[in-house]
Amino acid sequence: MPLFVANWKMYKTFNESIAFVQEHLAELEQLAGTKHSIAIAPSFVCLDRIGQELNKTSIKLCAQDCAPFKSGAYTGEVDAASLAQVGCTYGIVGHSERRHHFNETNDVIAQKAEQLLVNNITPILCIGETAQEFEQGKVFHILEKQLASFENLIGQTSQEYCIAYEPIWAIGSGKVPDSKHLNAVFSWLSDRNNIESCILLYGGSVDADNAKILLQVPHVGGLLIGGASCDFQSLKKIVSLA
Ligand code: PGA
Repeated sequence: MPLFVANWKMYKTFNESIAFVQEHLAELEQLAGTKHSIAIAPSFVCLDRIGQELNKTSIKLCAQDCAPFKSGAYTGEVDAASLAQVGCTYGIVGHSERRHHFNETNDVIAQKAEQLLVNNITPILCIGETAQEFEQGKVFHILEKQLASFENLIGQTSQEYCIAYEPIWAIGSGKVPDSKHLNAVFSWLSDRNNIESCILLYGGSVDADNAKILLQVPHVGGLLIGGASCDFQSLKKIVSLA
């Protein structure tokens, strides 16, 4: 059952996010049916309210981030226990926008994933190379570095987790890697992970035209969708075509 995660980033206000869910929840639920799993990742401030809307549906709630600490004097941070309390099933960590704009390191990202796991939230670890690293043939070297701390953590649990391969140059650019590259990356990822407990996702410029092809790449178990998930019609097309 492919997993579709709608990452709304900071595209929608609180009112817009609630309106989207209220307007489209019934259709989303129908779309999910028994064949797809759908998760929505709105901003922190929307989680509680949207969690209440999603309660009693099969649509899952996903946080876009979380604090790397359990609790304490960390002004502005949101703890994973609270994310669990408002109904999050998934939590994204290590998105390239957080790595880039907020200087998140691989160790901090692993701490965030650990907080999620402790609270029974499935972490979605994002990894991916820059355009320059891609051109220099450093993809596997970079992914290896991004995975190291997380793999240490995962090695100690049997909990579920997701890894989203999102090449930075593909995010929001309209560019998608060719199938040869995707085949190589996903077979490498699937060799390193226990497929029983890990779902591998692709993210970066997913839209209604490329979703089907992306999902046909061996070992791709779902999609992390940014811009295209903010518009209901395009989200609907992506899920229903797949
Ligand atoms: P995009 O973003 O689909 O807008 O490229 C994906 C992501 O950053 O998760």
